[in-house]
Amino acid sequence: MKKTLEEHADRFSELAPEYDDGASPEYRACVDLVVSYAAPEADDVVLDLGAGTGAIALALADDAARVVGRDISEGMLDEARRKAADCGVTNVDFGQGRFREPNVDGPVDVVVSNFALHHLSDAEKRAAVDVIADLEPSRFVLGDVMFFEDSDPESDVYDPEVDDPAHAGVLADALTDAGFVLTAVDRVSPAVGVIAAERR
Ligand SMILES: C[S@@+](CC[C@H](N)C(=O)[O-])C[C@H]1O[C@@H](n2cnc3c(N)ncnc32)[C@H](O)[C@@H]1O
Repeated sequence: MKKTLEEHADRFSELAPEYDDGASPEYRACVDLVVSYAAPEADDVVLDLGAGTGAIALALADDAARVVGRDISEGMLDEARRKAADCGVTNVDFGQGRFREPNVDGPVDVVVSNFALHHLSDAEKRAAVDVIADLEPSRFVLGDVMFFEDSDPESDVYDPEVDDPAHAGVLADALTDAGFVLTAVDRVSPAVGVIAAERR
């Protein structure tokens, strides 16, 4: 991690009011893929880690029994709660939680995370994947900044000062080592992708 949790939380809380206005085409494509691979059943509980302003959690709310959105930034969570209230969504719970300690009670069927895991170092990403595996979801869908080619510090999808993206292969290894079977690896751009995985 290139910044502390508190620094990330403060940075995102400052960005929160304008966060939704800055969506890139790669980000939008990633959201669509994560939502479509998540495909919860009507009685499923979904956990969205690094939920931010709720792009994924709110998109899945109609299809799931309950969605738990967890994030470290109170400003992002406030935006997510405001959007949920505006849309009349009542089955999503946005609250504090982090990859290492998701703060979720009871069984989770589907875990999703979009554009958040890349804030962690590779060792922390691995630890986060292990925590997710311990929740025993049937499916985990990860959309994120990830390299399919050599890293490109000039890329406009991440900032080397604050972001720490991994090669897609590192993420795939972490998932398979934690007992997941990969069901899809989609390259959205040289530095953005989506990995879907299941536990069987
Ligand atoms: C780029 S935003 C993505 C938000 C949302 N998933 C989306 O698709 O729009 C990254 C989010 O990850 C959160 N975050 C960063 N590190 C985290 C951690 N260790 N645990 C939980 N959330 C974290 C930030 O607070 C921020 O809201």
